[in-house]
Amino acid sequence: MKKTAQNQYKKKYHIASDKSLAIEVQALTKRYNPDVLALNGLTFSINRGEIFGLIGPNGAGKSTAVKIMTTLSRPSQGKIRLYNIDATQYPKKARHLFGYVAQQSGVDGESTGRENLMLQGRLYGLRGLRLRERVGQLLTQFNLIEAADRLTKTYSGGMQRKLDLAMGLIHRPQLLFLDEPTTGLDPEARTSLWKMIHHLAEEEGLTVLLTTHYLEEADQLCNRMAIIDQGKVVKQGTAGELKAELNGDVVHMEITETITESRATTILQDISGLDEIIVEASTLYVRTNRGAEQLPTLINAIKSANIEVQSATISRPSLDDVYLRHTGRIFAENEEV
Ligand SMILES: Nc1ncnc2c1ncn2[C@@H]1O[C@H](COP(=O)(O)OP(=O)(O)OP(=O)(O)O)[C@@H](O)[C@H]1O
Ligand SMILES: [Mg+2]
Repeated sequence: MKKTAQNQYKKKYHIASDKSLAIEVQALTKRYNPDVLALNGLTFSINRGEIFGLIGPNGAGKSTAVKIMTTLSRPSQGKIRLYNIDATQYPKKARHLFGYVAQQSGVDGESTGRENLMLQGRLYGLRGLRLRERVGQLLTQFNLIEAADRLTKTYSGGMQRKLDLAMGLIHRPQLLFLDEPTTGLDPEARTSLWKMIHHLAEEEGLTVLLTTHYLEEADQLCNRMAIIDQGKVVKQGTAGELKAELNGDVVHMEITETITESRATTILQDISGLDEIIVEASTLYVRTNRGAEQLPTLINAIKSANIEVQSATISRPSLDDVYLRHTGRIFAENEEV
C-alpha cells in the first residue's frame, strides 16, 4: 500500500500507533436500564497472540463485554479497538477480524458437521474449492473427520464444542472470542479443548479472549487474565503476578457457625503477624507468613470464643484466594452446575 493510501486508511479506521495490541477496551460503560449498570468503566488491553481470560462472579459483566467487543451490542460509552480498528464506529470492518463462539452452541443438530461448516463458510463469502478445502482442513485439525458426515445431534458435548470452535475459525480470523468454551464438558473433553486453544495461539498466532467459570482454566491456559467485578477490572496480570501479591500461607478454617468478619477480627485481634482475615459464611481465611507455627494459636483463639473448628488446612495462595480477596466471594460459588 502506498504511503498516502495507508494514511487515508489509517484516518478512516482510526488506526492507533500501537501495533502490538489486539484488543483495547477503554472506559466501557453499558447501562441496560436506569437500574442496571452492567459495565462501569471497563478498561484493559490484550497483546497480539495472547490468550486472555475474563473471570468474575455471576453478573460481573463478562458476557456484556464480549457482546460489545463482538459488535452484537453497543456500549453506552467507551471505545473498543480490535487490531487498531474502531469496532464501535466500523463494526462491519471489525467483524472479519474475529471469530465468536457463543456460550450456547451454534451447531445445527439436523445437519452434519461438514454441512454446518460449509454453511458457516458461505456466510463469510467462501465458495467452491476454497471452501471445501478449508472445511476439510478444519475437520482434520479438530479430529472430526470420521464424524464429518454424521448429523451433529449424535455428537458428544466435546465434539459439538470442537465443531463450534472450527466454525468460529472458518474465515481464518486473527482473533477469537470464546464465551465459556468448556462449561458443561467433562474433564477429558475440557483438557482436549485446552490443548487445541493453546495450539491455535502458539502455532498460528491467534489472539484468544475467553471468559471462564473455571479458575483452573485461566491458570492453565491464559497468559494473562482480568478479574472483573461490578463492571470493572479489579485486578489483572499473569497467574503468577496475581498469586505473588499474596505472600506467605493461607489458613482455611471451617467452623461450625456463620460469623461476621468483624467478629472474627475481634476474636483473632491478639494474634500478631496476621496479614488479612476474610470470612465467607462459615469459612475463615487467614493470611500469615507463619501458617504452620500459628495454626494452634488460631484454633485456640476460636475455641476460646466457644466456636468449634471442624477442619483447618494450610496452603500456598491460589488463584481462588486472589479472587476471594478482590471480589469478596469464593470462586466455586460462581460455577454453573
Ligand atoms: N439484556 C439485558 N437487559 C437487562 N439487563 C441485562 C441484560 N443482559 C445482562 N444484564 C444485566 O447486566 C449485568 C451483567 O450481566 P452479564 O451477563 O454481562 O454478566 P456475566 O459476568 O456474563 O455473568 P455470568 O457469569 O452469570 O454469565 C447483570 O446484572 C445482568 O442481569
Ligand atoms: Mg455470562
